[in-house]
Amino acid sequence: METQQFDLVRDDAYAVWRDGRLAVRPTRIEDLVVEVADVAALTAAEHAALLDRVRRCNMAVYVETRPAPGRDDKQALRALGERFGLVSLDCNHLADDDGITPLSVHQGGTRARYIPYTDRPIAWHTDGYYNEPPRRVRGLLLHAASPAAAGGENTLMDPELLYIRLRDEDKGLIAALTRPDAMTIPGNDEEGMVRPAVAGPVFYVQDGRLAMRYTARGRNIEWHPDADVQAAVAAIRRHLDAPAPDVFTARLEAGWGLVSNNVLHTRERFTEDPARPRLLYRARYHDRIAGS
Ligand SMILES: [Fe+2]
Repeated sequence: METQQFDLVRDDAYAVWRDGRLAVRPTRIEDLVVEVADVAALTAAEHAALLDRVRRCNMAVYVETRPAPGRDDKQALRALGERFGLVSLDCNHLADDDGITPLSVHQGGTRARYIPYTDRPIAWHTDGYYNEPPRRVRGLLLHAASPAAAGGENTLMDPELLYIRLRDEDKGLIAALTRPDAMTIPGNDEEGMVRPAVAGPVFYVQDGRLAMRYTARGRNIEWHPDADVQAAVAAIRRHLDAPAPDVFTARLEAGWGLVSNNVLHTRERFTEDPARPRLLYRARYHDRIAGS
């Protein structure tokens, strides 16, 4: 696949690619939403409708209307992934054995120390930004089995649109963010599991496609101290905090989910109904969505 558009001296190729991306991007959340009967058994038309959205902005939101009674949601999510060529699940040490992670509030134990397992807000990030190259996360699925009583919305942005905003502002920002030493996650030693420090770029091109590793968190992250990287990190924050019609906010209700090429996202704080706790399933893949 052509990658000249990501070469900073190829303004011509970039302009063609940029104009194409901007022309097809959705600008209303409704444009992302596709009604499907059951994600475990997508029809050809449902698959095509979801893929159309993913091609335009790297994400789609589905709304199930007739899931099979008593269905296993994890199995359904796995089947959904396979329909989109997502087969290489990223297994982390907190995931259940099958690599699909139930996200719910944990009051104690190892999981309770990680923000995803609390009711706290999560700042802008892509998933698995701390993974080393062979295990970088390219595909991300979320499925809501049970929403929070209130809150828990996700804000979503296509990383390609952020790249365009930054490059249009100053090519030097992109140069800084593609440095292989731009962002380092320090190593840690947790319960005997030693993880080495992981350094890498924010934007990278793999298999001809642009991808992004990013977190807005301030702890356990080391940005390169050079002025170009510092300026680029500030520019990212400025763009992510600016409201825009192509930055979407969605609350995943029961039977709703996200199909994505690991887009930028947040999670808002939420309030639980103890009788009906929030439960989302998350699947991370090393693959991109096939055909997108
Ligand atoms: Fe996430």
